[in-house]
Amino acid sequence: MDNKAPVTVIGLGLMGQALAGAFLKAGHPTIVWNRTAAKADQLVAEGARLASAVGDALQASSLTIVCVTDYQAMRELLGASDIDLNGTMLLNLTSGNSAQAREAARWTEQRGARYLDGAIMAIPPAIGTAEAVILHSGPQSDFEAHKSTLDALGTVTYLGADHGLASLYDGAGLTMMWSVLNAWLHGTAMLRTAGVDAVTYAPFARQIAAGVAEWLPGYAEQIDSGSFPAEVSALEGDARTMAHLIEESEALGVNAELPKLIKAMADRSIAAGHGAEQYPVLIEEFGKP
Ligand SMILES: NC(=O)c1ccc[n+]([C@@H]2O[C@H](COP(=O)([O-])OP(=O)(O)OC[C@H]3O[C@@H](n4cnc5c(N)ncnc54)[C@H](OP(=O)(O)O)[C@@H]3O)[C@@H](O)[C@H]2O)c1
Repeated sequence: MDNKAPVTVIGLGLMGQALAGAFLKAGHPTIVWNRTAAKADQLVAEGARLASAVGDALQASSLTIVCVTDYQAMRELLGASDIDLNGTMLLNLTSGNSAQAREAARWTEQRGARYLDGAIMAIPPAIGTAEAVILHSGPQSDFEAHKSTLDALGTVTYLGADHGLASLYDGAGLTMMWSVLNAWLHGTAMLRTAGVDAVTYAPFARQIAAGVAEWLPGYAEQIDSGSFPAEVSALEGDARTMAHLIEESEALGVNAELPKLIKAMADRSIAAGHGAEQYPVLIEEFGKP
């Protein structure tokens, strides 16, 4: 318990309670505040101190974590006339978008605070384990000054000085997650028409997903260089296979929206003259509004 830095957690919903609980478990003196004070009861029983007011909570530690519903709630909470942010170090783990994160940085810094933004890629029960990935962006020196405290929460990662990065990486992770899950579900629906159950298909799907993941570093080099030689296949050939996938889905009576979306993007890229290039040339379609 000795020598651990005190830390304040403001906002004790499901996530805030998990964050404060992980700090307590790691031996950090933990100061908490929540609009509905009763949500602090369990944490206080475990050794947390309930601050009497937001101002008291902010002054109690050299690091204050805010985790409330959204940025508007954060603004209402910290913008009250009796709150002095001067000299405070804030880490906002409230979910939002990159513009909100950059604006929150400007707003708090104008009021004399130091500000890091963060995104939690985990559910509350995972907090405090390596499985909980927590992304941070803002001044590197501020992240490093508090990293040993933040380590109590899980796998903490620093992404860069732009305050919007944590939110952008969070979004990139979510689009990956839902795209992979949708592709797996579409394949599962196709196979179920032949009596193959999901558990039988899952190991095969996992192998395919892992194989595709191996392509990413090489494809990323093509994207960064802006050159897409068809080393393994050309988009035109891929589009013919996509047509088969749509026909098969329709013939089986399963949902064909996903292969149609995939083919529509490839068709636009081919129409723009990229048919002889390799798949990652589609970045040009994804980069448009
Ligand atoms: N739960 C998850 O799995 C998860 C995962 C990743 C990220 N997150 C993010 O973490 C944040 C908190 O999520 P949660 O699951 O803890 O939500 P939650 O259980 O609904 O808790 C919301 C918290 O925000 C507080 N709050 C809302 N409006 C407020 C206001 N105007 N002034 C003061 N406090 C206010 C609530 O206070 P009261 O108790 O007084 O209502 C409560 O402490 C969200 O941005 C969420 O997207 C959650």
